[in-house]
Amino acid sequence: MLDEVLAQLDPRSGRGEDGESHVVVDATVGLGGHAEAILERSSPDGRLVGVDRDPAALALAAERLARFGDRCVLVHGDFAELRTLLAAHGLGAVDGLLCDLGVSSLQLDDPARGFSWRADGPLDMRMDPSSPRDAAAVLDASGDRELAEALARLGGERFAGRVARVVLERRRAGRLSTTGALRDAVHAALGRSRAGGIDAATRAFQALRMLVNRELEALDALLGSLPDLLRPGGRAVFVSFHSGEDRLVKHALRGLAQRDGPPRLRLLTRRALRPSDAELAVNPRARSAKLRAIERLAEVA
Ligand SMILES: C[S@@+](CC[C@H](N)C(=O)[O-])C[C@H]1O[C@@H](n2cnc3c(N)ncnc32)[C@H](O)[C@@H]1O
Repeated sequence: MLDEVLAQLDPRSGRGEDGESHVVVDATVGLGGHAEAILERSSPDGRLVGVDRDPAALALAAERLARFGDRCVLVHGDFAELRTLLAAHGLGAVDGLLCDLGVSSLQLDDPARGFSWRADGPLDMRMDPSSPRDAAAVLDASGDRELAEALARLGGERFAGRVARVVLERRRAGRLSTTGALRDAVHAALGRSRAGGIDAATRAFQALRMLVNRELEALDALLGSLPDLLRPGGRAVFVSFHSGEDRLVKHALRGLAQRDGPPRLRLLTRRALRPSDAELAVNPRARSAKLRAIERLAEVA
């Protein structure tokens, strides 16, 4: 949803009233596609701070964004701690914040990262390989009921109890240590390998990935720091692919826009924006994307 992101974020060149150049934070810089477009749009002097918790993504983004020189800074870290990460670079509030949630194709398509059921790999799924708990450790620490709750809540799995039981039985018996074995366990629990044209293990993989990376917790923390992250006139844009993420974003943005007292923020999107048919034709992975945006109002003197 690049065009929609740029329209809502409105990245600019030039300096604000405080003499500082316009700064956008891309909190999920990934391979740098959105960041590149933001830097081009805010040429010649708009700045961008790109954050990601995946060092492999940052290395590729660094190559792609090298031509922008010191207009672009890349930072390794979790956006749950964005204010601290920015403070370490001498920044308080910013003019733009982009959060394009979920996994990148780099992560999904590399079997060694363990995100995908398509190819066999280790039970890893960590976006940040230095974080302590991989998918195997999360399974080992989960009880049947806890895992079933996560499969239902994060994956929308209707037969979550059955899937959790078979997966943990096999794990405890030492028969589940790869993504292929996880996929087989889910198929065995559900008694089929496909549902509605997609692999029946898709929902379990999504749920486990979100659990491993504490994705909803990180988003919640970022949303909580939003009012202090934006300068007056600053905008924040969220793109989500998961109904739980979109729900969090929707409620947080509405809550901020409707707070008692003089309004500090206003919604830029009453309803979530969806990808155009033209975009879906070239990028079917975008079909569940939803974009929401908010703006901090300029201070009245
Ligand atoms: C959908 S991709 C972003 C793609 C990017 N917009 C681009 O144009 O290439 C999401 C990225 O967000 C990162 N990510 C997810 N949760 C994060 C978090 N809590 N903190 C920092 N990065 C995170 C992932 O590692 C992944 O690289």
